[in-house]
Amino acid sequence: MLALAACGSQSTSGSEGGSKNEKLVVGTDAAYAPFEYLKDGKIVGFDADLLKAVMKEAKLKYELKNTGWEPLFASLKSEQVQAGISAITINDKRKQTYDFSSPYFESINKILVKEGSPIKGVDDLKGKKVSVQNGTTGQDALEKKFGKGDANVKKYETNVLAIQALLNGEVDAVVADNTVVDEYAKNNPDKKLTVVDDKTNFESEYYGIAFPKGSENKKKIDKALKTVIDNGTYSKVYKKWFKVEPNLDALKK
Ligand code: ARG
Repeated sequence: MLALAACGSQSTSGSEGGSKNEKLVVGTDAAYAPFEYLKDGKIVGFDADLLKAVMKEAKLKYELKNTGWEPLFASLKSEQVQAGISAITINDKRKQTYDFSSPYFESINKILVKEGSPIKGVDDLKGKKVSVQNGTTGQDALEKKFGKGDANVKKYETNVLAIQALLNGEVDAVVADNTVVDEYAKNNPDKKLTVVDDKTNFESEYYGIAFPKGSENKKKIDKALKTVIDNGTYSKVYKKWFKVEPNLDALKK
């Protein structure tokens, strides 16, 4: 409750004719560039732009709210928010509690280390201190490999803090989504970081928009998402943020 009150929100009208005129509250954790982050107090990023396009197509009014990561899931469960967009990986564990849109982005975890680090893959993380954002698939992947109670896995409330821990020398590596660590390393050359991938230990993942179980909005949003993918709007948003064409076939799996 407190976390919600302390965080910012912004409104965007998808269209004049939203059903009933009610605004959907969509939660996010705006500390995960380039998907969602704060710029001059506004939530911006690929997810923010995609959501805008989808909601316009679905003719739904909404408000994007910076709830934070773990509070977002609690708020979906209690239906204080009607949807969540936050680079959220669709997986079986989450599907037990939430509904998801069709996939809109392919992702995989990667390891961020300092230049010259001997870490070349997940196996090298054994006995090393590794930071993750609490409750992410990065944490799941490490727990699967090294067991649940591994004291070397340091969990932070945001991914920004997880990266900070690497910069401070508190940890030897960060595990987070490829696009996020790639962008961070590229945009901060002065920090001298390297990104390590490991396709044997990390699995391909897909992001989806999350809903409370049984939400009537899922159908409308899936339909609108399909339209924006088919009519080129998705590609436009994708190119704005990633400078390359998306592989749309990857979403059709
Ligand atoms: N894709 C990962 C997951 O679902 C990490 C997402 C973190 N997103 C964020 N906005 N902090 O667990």
